[in-house]
Amino acid sequence: MRSSTSSTPFSIREFDLPDETASTQPLLEVDDLRVSFATRGGVVQAVDGLSLQVGRREVVGIVGESGSGKSVAMYSLLGLVRDSNVTITGRVRFEGRDILGLPDQEMRSIRGHDIAMIFQDPMTALTPVYNVGWQIAEQIRAHGTATKQQARTRAIELLGEVGIPDPARRIDQYPHEFSGGMRQRVVIAMALSCNPKLLIADEPTTALDVTTQAQILDLMSTLQDSYNSSIVIITHDMGVISEMADRVVVMYAGRPAEIGAKRDVIRSPRHPYTWGLLGAVPRVESKRSRLVTIPGTPVSPLDVPAGCAFGPRCDYRFDACSERPALRGDGGHQDACWLDERQKVAIRQRVESSIGSENAS
Ligand SMILES: Nc1ncnc2c1ncn2[C@@H]1O[C@H](COP(=O)(O)OP(=O)(O)OP(=O)(O)O)[C@@H](O)[C@H]1O
Ligand code: SF4
Ligand SMILES: [Mg+2]
Repeated sequence: MRSSTSSTPFSIREFDLPDETASTQPLLEVDDLRVSFATRGGVVQAVDGLSLQVGRREVVGIVGESGSGKSVAMYSLLGLVRDSNVTITGRVRFEGRDILGLPDQEMRSIRGHDIAMIFQDPMTALTPVYNVGWQIAEQIRAHGTATKQQARTRAIELLGEVGIPDPARRIDQYPHEFSGGMRQRVVIAMALSCNPKLLIADEPTTALDVTTQAQILDLMSTLQDSYNSSIVIITHDMGVISEMADRVVVMYAGRPAEIGAKRDVIRSPRHPYTWGLLGAVPRVESKRSRLVTIPGTPVSPLDVPAGCAFGPRCDYRFDACSERPALRGDGGHQDACWLDERQKVAIRQRVESSIGSENAS
């Protein structure tokens, strides 16, 4: 959870459901999730053995390049991947209940009551032909017993909570009358209308300018405090992870490359792909140190190499890498790389000192 200096507003969930926050059972448990699509070109293994847990009030960041399976993983566990060519296996439990493969109606109820989704493009969630007040109120009425007037009053409150000025007037405006950042605030209001236990946000700030991005992240943190929600935030940006997340899952080619507490992953990253994402590890053969992007291009999902999927882009690969590495590690910090800890520490130190000498020169 992001540290915030702003005061925490009154929280409904805090007072209604004290037992939940005391519980130690994870809110969401994903175990060996695999999602594949049968396509003309072959089988696309979009998610290939993802396991993760989301605790209560925890913010988990899922980070990786385009095509690494971040969205498909989350959409499939919510029952939002319905293609006839898809195969989904594994186990997903929400509050201890198996939810993978539940009938549509039950999944809709979970999505409306307990889990809310925020998409990258607010227009995915908003209909252009209805005013925003109607859309939020409908959402409230669909999942509760509120009257039209009560739903409208709550919708105005929600718009105020997400920082829309003059909400009683703006509630009757249409999505196109809002800026991109304001539209994303409306979508957040809509997501919060069911007081969700879990909020899944898929690149919620990518389409926004830097200042608005920071404001939306701030807003999500503040609201997370007041609603006591857990958040899964999907991003390709380590900056967002460092701002928001308690824990991080780094994904590559549908597989978890590294999982750990944010401070561990950012301070002591263990996987060469994470080093690349952090942009702080120059190529070993470079004489001059400089911050680099990850060499090569993301792997084609139709042509994932045998062994370590990151192998073709990895400067440190060696013989063992022709076998697929499993996640291993201590405590909550795990990575899927054959290098041993001593080698990783040595590489990191070498790089840090070369960055230091470059900065000094
Ligand atoms: N319906 C589908 N049929 C075939 N392949 C698909 C389908 N949906 C997704 N994929 C493939 O699954 C892989 C993972 O896609 P996903 O959208 O999860 O990536 P992502 O990590 O969210 O990327 P981005 O950052 O671009 O949003 C990609 O290679 C994508 O092309
Ligand atoms: S397993 Fe080998 S190829 Fe893969 S990241 Fe580690 S060193 Fe690189
Ligand atoms: Mg995506």
